Amino acid sequence: MLSIVFSTLRTGISPMPTLGKVRRQLLPLIESDLSGTILELGCGWGTLAFALADRCPRARVVAFELSPLPFAFCWLRQRLAPRSNLELQRQDFFRASFSDAALVVCYLFPGAMTRLAPKLLAELPPGTRVLSHTFALRGWKPLRTLMVDDLYRTPIYLYAVPSPDA
Ligand SMILES: C[S@@+](CC[C@H](N)C(=O)[O-])C[C@H]1O[C@@H](n2cnc3c(N)ncnc32)[C@H](O)[C@@H]1O
Repeated sequence: MLSIVFSTLRTGISPMPTLGKVRRQLLPLIESDLSGTILELGCGWGTLAFALADRCPRARVVAFELSPLPFAFCWLRQRLAPRSNLELQRQDFFRASFSDAALVVCYLFPGAMTRLAPKLLAELPPGTRVLSHTFALRGWKPLRTLMVDDLYRTPIYLYAVPSPDA
């Protein structure tokens, strides 16, 4: 419990999972035959990471998580029900390279989105897709926005990384 509190203070967000209704609307936005690398930024308990690995069997899903308890849970889950295309990394995703990503998926918080935007612009080729729910990338124009029919009317944003001169 203390480790979750400490990690929440460190990262700025608790390991709150993506809920079922959001997941069910988010996953069909991703082509199931997508190949290449999908980055899950802050995978929490693995709710989205395992679903992404199932949705895109030809892709390699790299899921980052800093918080020890959720990471250990994911690790155990991967031992018990392995997904051959899922790789878990206990690492700060801000320190990882995004350069070979075909898709970036996240459910973070406004401060992290602000910090993330320049990294996405610097490291991803224009046109690379970024999927975020709940929080938007300020100043970016989504290709699509969906509103989930849940209590919070959760927005899901699908972006394409703009070209530098756009
Ligand atoms: C709201 S949860 C989302 C969990 C999961 N993506 C999902 O949708 O079910 C955000 C997670 O991001 C993790 N996180 C936040 N900043 C991080 C960072 N810089 N590096 C790695 N993990 C981070 C937090 O520990 C937390 O578990």
